[in-house]
Amino acid sequence: MMWGNIINTLLICLAFSVYQAYFVYRRPEYKTVQNVRPMYDYIIVGGGSAGSVLASRLSENSSVSVLLLEAGPHDLGHEELDTPNRVAELWYSAFDWMFFSEPQEHSSLGMEGNRAYFPRGRVLGGSSQINYMQWSRGHRRDFDRWEELGCKGWSYEDVLPYFLKSEDAVPDHLAKDATYRATGGPMKITEMKGYQLAQTFVDALASLGYPERDYNGEFQEGVSRVQASIYKGERWSASRAYLWPASQRDNLDIVTSATVSKIHISEGRASAVEFHRVTDSESEQQTVKIRREAILAAGVFGSPQILMLSGVGQRDHLQALNVSVRVSRQS
Ligand SMILES: Cc1cc2nc3c(=O)[nH]c(=O)nc-3n(C[C@H](O)[C@H](O)[C@H](O)COP(=O)(O)OP(=O)(O)OC[C@H]3O[C@@H](n4cnc5c(N)ncnc54)[C@H](O)[C@@H]3O)c2cc1C
Ligand SMILES: *[C@@H]1O[C@H](CO)[C@@H](O)[C@H](O)[C@H]1NC(C)=O
Ligand SMILES: *[C@@H]1O[C@H](CO)[C@@H](O)[C@H](O)[C@H]1NC(C)=O
Repeated sequence: MMWGNIINTLLICLAFSVYQAYFVYRRPEYKTVQNVRPMYDYIIVGGGSAGSVLASRLSENSSVSVLLLEAGPHDLGHEELDTPNRVAELWYSAFDWMFFSEPQEHSSLGMEGNRAYFPRGRVLGGSSQINYMQWSRGHRRDFDRWEELGCKGWSYEDVLPYFLKSEDAVPDHLAKDATYRATGGPMKITEMKGYQLAQTFVDALASLGYPERDYNGEFQEGVSRVQASIYKGERWSASRAYLWPASQRDNLDIVTSATVSKIHISEGRASAVEFHRVTDSESEQQTVKIRREAILAAGVFGSPQILMLSGVGQRDHLQALNVSVRVSRQS
């Protein structure tokens, strides 16, 4: 009887180890960066969706030095980030900037104080850690329209190679059309299996004549299941896809709890980045020089805010706050 129990326990331990080794995605360790260097080739502000991609791609070349500054914490060991179903816990959490609009007169009337709530990620991976994980490129005509309006290089044909480079469309049927879908990229894309009800819904629409389609494929209109950046049951954030594999590179320093407050501009060029870093033992203001470029990837609210703090913006807005104007545009 007792031997039976011991053997059972051992078998359970063995099964668990095998499960851990083969089925649970291996977590990296981020390299600890005690002291940042005085100068880097590239300084990336914000370790969110865009910042993670840029940090990873730029540091592929080992003779290029890259510093990534992120205001939030790193993203390891938080099951609520990894577990897709727990997404609702992340809003109003420590991983959310919790932006609110000014009180609105004509909208947000159902919100407290008539203020709209704008969740934004504040952690490595940024908003890709707190979003709904739906993988949708957007309609090709929108890209083409931007190009028509003068945004050169952003037509669908221009951006398609980058969509292909980014993705690993996991189910076979998605990867079938190699012109529009790809395998082997860092972003794992799966299709939500969901409930029988979802298939019934798809079938019902198909019976009404809506074609069943891959909305990231050649034809984007029709009916389909949702594609998501989820793999083996876990959220596949931009950080997981791009930063984890790069986390040990000598030429990439990833610094968390580092809030950028200003880009220094001299002779029309971004010359240094100023930030406030909080560690266990201290909190200090630092300035690091830029050899080549500063890349603002602090998100839709963060990037313009940093520009304004750096004196780039509308003259009267900056002057009202006593920010000395470096580059201005009259409204
Ligand atoms: C709730 C929610 C649901 C969404 N659902 C989907 C979806 O299903 N599918 C989809 O495609 N998109 C979705 N999105 C949108 C998508 O997540 C964002 O468009 C995308 O993540 C934005 O990327 P980004 O790099 O511009 O900014 P972010 O990913 O937000 O990154 C900005 C980073 O900069 C950091 N930062 C900001 N200020 C500073 C500073 N001063 N100093 C240092 N660091 C700073 C932030 O902490 C953050 O990590 C959703 C977004 C939200 C919020
Ligand atoms: C890597 O960077 C160095 C220094 O900027 C540059 O000379 C070299 O061409 C780059 N290599 C590649 C493969 O891009
Ligand atoms: C700007 O500076 C003036 C003069 O020093 C001061 O009176 C005013 O309060 C400052 N405004 C802000 C928003 O700090």
